[in-house]
Amino acid sequence: MAVQEQARPGGVADRGVPGIMSGKTPGVRETPPPGPGELRQTPWEIEGPFFRLGAPQRSNLLEPGDKPEIILTGRILNEKGTPIPGAVVQFWSCDHKGEYDMISFKYTGYQVADATGRYELTTIIPGAYQPREAKHIHVKVQAISRPVTTQLYFEGEPGNQLDEYYNPDLVIAWTMGEDGVRHGTFDFVIAQFTDDENVTPETLAARV
Ligand SMILES: [Fe+2]
Repeated sequence: MAVQEQARPGGVADRGVPGIMSGKTPGVRETPPPGPGELRQTPWEIEGPFFRLGAPQRSNLLEPGDKPEIILTGRILNEKGTPIPGAVVQFWSCDHKGEYDMISFKYTGYQVADATGRYELTTIIPGAYQPREAKHIHVKVQAISRPVTTQLYFEGEPGNQLDEYYNPDLVIAWTMGEDGVRHGTFDFVIAQFTDDENVTPETLAARV
């Protein structure tokens, strides 16, 4: 069972089927099926045109005047379910109006998974924008691995089923807390390179 499914509360309504472009865009890799006893890798999705390097390290993306709208927690795991401390997770989204900040780094930041592989993100629920119908947060996760680029969607959003890239395996399950903030969970599963795949002249030199 995928970790994403384990994290969902019971009674979640049908989350629908993937959009026609989900995982089908040129350059978007389809993750291999899991081996026996392994977790399924988090599906890859388009990067969108708005990823930028150089964002600050922070787990709280709120801008002045914002109220927290979702607190997302989870872990970075390998296919065996082993947490990956030190994994780097980059989040970026548009604002409430559906606009991306291409000048500074609003709603953009990266963080490093803690010793148990956990991350925590506090942010807003971004707006939707044409041609995207589903509200989403972009994510890039990496450790000793390829960068895994994906998106997260919000459970219960009416635009999900209208979005070409929507993938029900990338839905954040959430519950409303007493603090009026959505509390969501999502575990990422990524494949790390093996030693065999990671051999370079430098690593070879370090072995002798
Ligand atoms: Fe986007």
